[in-house]
Amino acid sequence: MKIAVIGATGLVGQKMLQVLAERNLPVDELIVAASERSIGKKTQFKGKEYTLISVEEAIEKRPDIAIFSAGADASLKYAPLFAEKGTYVVDNSSAWRKKEGIPLVVPEINASDITVDTHIIANPNCSTIQLVMALAPLHRRYGIRRIVVSTYQSVSGSGLKGLNQLHCEQNGGKSNNPAYPHQIHENIIPHGGNFLDDGNTTEEEKLIFETNKIMHSKIAVSATVARVPVYGGHSESVNVEFLQPYDLQEIRNILENTPGVIVADDPSKNLYPTPIMAYDKDEVFVGRMRRDNSIENGFNFWVVSDNIRKGAATNAVEIAQYLIQKILI
Ligand code: A2P
Repeated sequence: MKIAVIGATGLVGQKMLQVLAERNLPVDELIVAASERSIGKKTQFKGKEYTLISVEEAIEKRPDIAIFSAGADASLKYAPLFAEKGTYVVDNSSAWRKKEGIPLVVPEINASDITVDTHIIANPNCSTIQLVMALAPLHRRYGIRRIVVSTYQSVSGSGLKGLNQLHCEQNGGKSNNPAYPHQIHENIIPHGGNFLDDGNTTEEEKLIFETNKIMHSKIAVSATVARVPVYGGHSESVNVEFLQPYDLQEIRNILENTPGVIVADDPSKNLYPTPIMAYDKDEVFVGRMRRDNSIENGFNFWVVSDNIRKGAATNAVEIAQYLIQKILI
């Protein structure tokens, strides 16, 4: 099995290498690529050193799977070139997510959207992955009419640029390459991505579109994205309107039995998910589960996950794992 990681020097690319090693995927040959400026540099995998090559060179090596986290422009340009050579591309960027015929996959939910013919597979946005991990089993049981989601997203969602900005500002300085239009230290910025004509941002639009593409649903989604001065881990407040009456204890049972979800919910012990609880974990943490008595069949919860792991690298590696087990056999 030949596996390539494209964008291997980045925050997510490095985590992909770590998760590939942890999960012990059968990697016979590892190929690492990044932008021109990184060619010849070294990176580690399972205690061995690997030299970064150009993406063009990586294409010629015809890997079985190429996992991308190199930004949307690189994905748009290079993913089809890999696919032409028979490589399966797992792409972490937003480049391919909306395209018809390109599966957008959270393996626990819709791995079966992947077929031998789908050579480009999109990895969803980090905020969407943790949201649908909790919503999908509840939608299957009760049906969901509408959700209102507000996010509290960490700066690691903006890559090294975001981490650097918060770090500089915390130390009294200023980043010379800031990720955000305002100071993030001691601040909250209700703005993710770019503003669209309807007033939503591109990050909000991703939550609205991707939730339904993954779940094959027609749920009304209202989303507000905010960036908070937290290094890692995205949090979300979610208000759900079910199509039918539900039982709170049954919801707890369903989520407790959902692989990849951990229920952390005991108000008597001040137990609820926080970014620090989720740090470097692969699971999605759910808590603050309660009725919303302001509407019929209303339900509130809070969900937290490590956005670099399940929100990006872990989900992509799980898609690769599925390809190895079900498609490439
Ligand atoms: P490089 O380090 O050579 O710039 P992050 O989101 O953490 O900044 O990481 C982005 C990743 O994508 C890095 O590995 C970066 O490589 C890589 N990258 C950016 N642009 C390209 C490109 N045009 N071709 C290949 N890799 C790219």
